[in-house]
Amino acid sequence: MSLSTEAGIAALLAAAALLCSVAAADSLPNQRPVVGVLAQEILPEDPFAAGSSYIAACYVKYLESAGARVVPIRINRTEEEYVQIFSTINGLLLPGGNVDTETSLSTRAAKIFYRLALKANNAGDYFPIWGTCQGFQQLTLLTADRNLLTVTDTRSAALPLNFTADSSSSRLFRNFPADLMRSLSEDNITANFHSWSLSLQNFSRNGKLKRFYKVLSTNTDGTTDFISTMEARHYPFYAVQWHPEKSPFEWVDKPGMVHSTQAVRASFYTASFFVSEAMKNQHKFSSPAEEEQALIYNFSPVFRGISSIFVQKYYFD
Ligand SMILES: *[C@@H]1O[C@H](CO)[C@@H](O)[C@H](O)[C@H]1NC(C)=O
Ligand SMILES: *[C@@H]1O[C@H](CO)[C@@H](O)[C@H](O)[C@H]1NC(C)=O
Ligand SMILES: *[C@@H]1O[C@H](CO)[C@@H](O)[C@H](O)[C@H]1NC(C)=O
Ligand SMILES: *[C@@H]1O[C@H](CO)[C@@H](O)[C@H](O)[C@H]1NC(C)=O
Repeated sequence: MSLSTEAGIAALLAAAALLCSVAAADSLPNQRPVVGVLAQEILPEDPFAAGSSYIAACYVKYLESAGARVVPIRINRTEEEYVQIFSTINGLLLPGGNVDTETSLSTRAAKIFYRLALKANNAGDYFPIWGTCQGFQQLTLLTADRNLLTVTDTRSAALPLNFTADSSSSRLFRNFPADLMRSLSEDNITANFHSWSLSLQNFSRNGKLKRFYKVLSTNTDGTTDFISTMEARHYPFYAVQWHPEKSPFEWVDKPGMVHSTQAVRASFYTASFFVSEAMKNQHKFSSPAEEEQALIYNFSPVFRGISSIFVQKYYFD
């Protein structure tokens, strides 16, 4: 065999090995996914406040119920620390809450992760982001690079989703059972607890948002049509203005809180979808010890009363 043939065969074998490893990465889901949940500033009126930031425990339970483990991402950390954390987690959840979406340290961290996620996905490193309520709003801000939100009368209401034609082919909804899609669209099972919304009007007038996201459902407060669910066209980014995590895990007795079987199933199906997206990512900790140290099990949630808006929260320094 001539040298050049040998080199040629070696190159072919190397190429085949590379193809196999790419195929393996594509086909073998990561069955130990870890999702980062972003903390946010504590509210001054929180009677249980300890430290400087918190995560509502419902977001942790939501992800755990669908087979993920959670790493808390604390605010006010250096960019280097966030880059390091990014390399260890398989997805990011931006939770609901009540901070200034433009100036908060939570949005600062969200922005750093958002940019890292864009870059990673552009390079073929699949990294999903899920935004709920305030997280939805943060995503609109990060994509549009400006605040396009408007006030709506949606502070405490359960609504049926008004699905768009795009919803049935969407990544998020296409595998949902038909009876659940019917409940989501006919019954009032999606919990809305927000003063701010992205109106259909502002969305439609903003090229950056329109190019980036596909609207999957809308709602109205009677005056303003606003976007309730969307997914990015070319990135595994998902945003819900409603609260799928509340139905199974929060018990405040308020209009808008629903605990029906279908509401709880909607919670699980959204969580399971997002965790299955995180399973497509292969980031990992450099050692089991490092992973163990980062997981939320190192913290204990505080019980804040059954009629509190969040039954349990984790507090961080
Ligand atoms: C952020 O970190 C700085 C420097 O460590 C500290 O002075 C400040 O109080 C922190 N802010 C919050 C909200 O944690
Ligand atoms: C559109 O966004 C602007 C901020 O850029 C806001 O003042 C206005 O209320 C919004 N209008 C609607 C209909 O959403
Ligand atoms: C469900 O929500 C709609 C608003 O989309 C409202 O008109 C209707 O009265 C609600 N139904 C119930 C039973 O609350
Ligand atoms: C649903 O959305 C469509 C299109 O945006 C709109 O024409 C229709 O009035 C909405 N229906 C309800 C019940 O809000």
